Amino acid sequence: MWRVKSLDAILATAEKKSLHRSLGAFQLTMLGIGGIIGTGIFVLTAEAAQKAGPGMMVSFIIAGFVCAVAALCYAELASMVPVSGSAYTYSYAVLGEFFAWLVGWALILEYAVAASAVAVGWSGYMVGLIEASLHVQLPLALTAGPYAGGIVNLPAIVISLAVTGLLILGTKESATVNSVLVIVKVAALVAFIWLALPVINDDNFKPFAPLGSTGVVAAAASIFFAYVGFDAVSTAAEETKNPQRNIPIGLIGSLIICTIFYMLVAAGAIGAYGAQPVFGPGGEALAPGSVMLAEQCSTLSGAGKMPLVCSKEALAHVMRELGHPMVGKFIGLAAGIALPSVILMMIYGQTRIFFVMSRDGLLPPVLSKVHPKFKTPHIVTMITGVGVTFAAAFLPVGKLADISNSGTLFAFLMVSIAVMMLRVKQPDRARPFRTPLVWVIAPVAAAGTVVLFFFLPHDAKLLFPVWSAIGLVLYFAYGYRKSYVGRGITDVPELAEDAPPTAVAPMPGAPAPGSKEERD
Ligand code: ALA
Repeated sequence: MWRVKSLDAILATAEKKSLHRSLGAFQLTMLGIGGIIGTGIFVLTAEAAQKAGPGMMVSFIIAGFVCAVAALCYAELASMVPVSGSAYTYSYAVLGEFFAWLVGWALILEYAVAASAVAVGWSGYMVGLIEASLHVQLPLALTAGPYAGGIVNLPAIVISLAVTGLLILGTKESATVNSVLVIVKVAALVAFIWLALPVINDDNFKPFAPLGSTGVVAAAASIFFAYVGFDAVSTAAEETKNPQRNIPIGLIGSLIICTIFYMLVAAGAIGAYGAQPVFGPGGEALAPGSVMLAEQCSTLSGAGKMPLVCSKEALAHVMRELGHPMVGKFIGLAAGIALPSVILMMIYGQTRIFFVMSRDGLLPPVLSKVHPKFKTPHIVTMITGVGVTFAAAFLPVGKLADISNSGTLFAFLMVSIAVMMLRVKQPDRARPFRTPLVWVIAPVAAAGTVVLFFFLPHDAKLLFPVWSAIGLVLYFAYGYRKSYVGRGITDVPELAEDAPPTAVAPMPGAPAPGSKEERD
């Protein structure tokens, strides 16, 4: 289980059984922004404010910094190994199959669970928008999961299935739609920044960190979700033209653009409106998403006050309160239209990782089947879509986001370790992009991910080892025995896309499948 897949084998396999290359640097950057800006800034800003108050500015900086150093590590590996699979593939080549499986399994949290979180966030915005515009009350039973007093979240189901269908139709079409949606949400953030920054009041920044530095780092661990998605760019490597150049541009470019937007939006929300936490009757800190906080919020709203932390549509709320109701509506509409681009990016990333794991024999081969007409891995896309839909139908957005963060932080940790190990093991291999100051950047990335993980809420922290344990059971039951690398199979035939692979490098003592020795 410590076996590694050689980088040359990875590149050769990808070359022969590849997806259609259609994406350029601009589309990749748009895919990155499409994956990054979403529920984190539109919905979870309120949760961050509840934990950190105005100090969430610092939380955004901490989370952005950890992502930036991790992105620099990702970029080196993605440029060296421009194939689908992201952190999973890099781990396979450097840390071995066991860690690769753990990372691939953790990436399900990062991608699929994040897609569910964003679908639930989208549902909240759409329900609010429909109710406000049409002056109707939609039944709670069908618009929220059991956690929020409903039965099933129908809007979240609808959007998850719609995005899945789009992905089955093809990357090119999906990426084009994504670009339009990115423009819409960037326009909403620009409008917010434009109107909020000029009316900043310094007093709103005091007290800056009402819950201390612990609150600020805890908020960073949760708001980390707002940055998740940039690494999904690397999962598109096999569908990218000139990946050595375009993947690093897509990764780092999209992260820089989003970080600037987040800083400005957070400064605007805090300075123009205020972002102090709501405390309990005894002055105690209340957890975001808790019943106690909901009760305090409803008391405050009865008294005509609606703090930022109580809003389910923070940015639209700030605009309305600042006297710009039309802009508030526009932001709500933009979030409703554009959040699906995040769901799209997340499901897309997930399917490509499953695709590669299946191509490696760690998951059943049927998952790497490519649709003859659409040229997309349609079966794995359908399966992922059903899983995302199920979680979105029943679970709450904040919890889904924290769970997603736990898996993402683990994947980032493995990538930062892998980049260092590869510098030692294969120093001469061509690196189209080199992580600058790697012996500073990579250890800082590793330490940052570990710190943020330990500041996640307890349930997310506890769920991760349980999830990993389930993954290991599956690995030893299936992947350990079926692994192509383990069976000495490192290549796939060039013409028969979905045919079983042939062997070029059998394990010592094992006859190659199809060889004369084996036939005898
Ligand atoms: N970063 C993405 C979001 O905030 C996952 O929705």
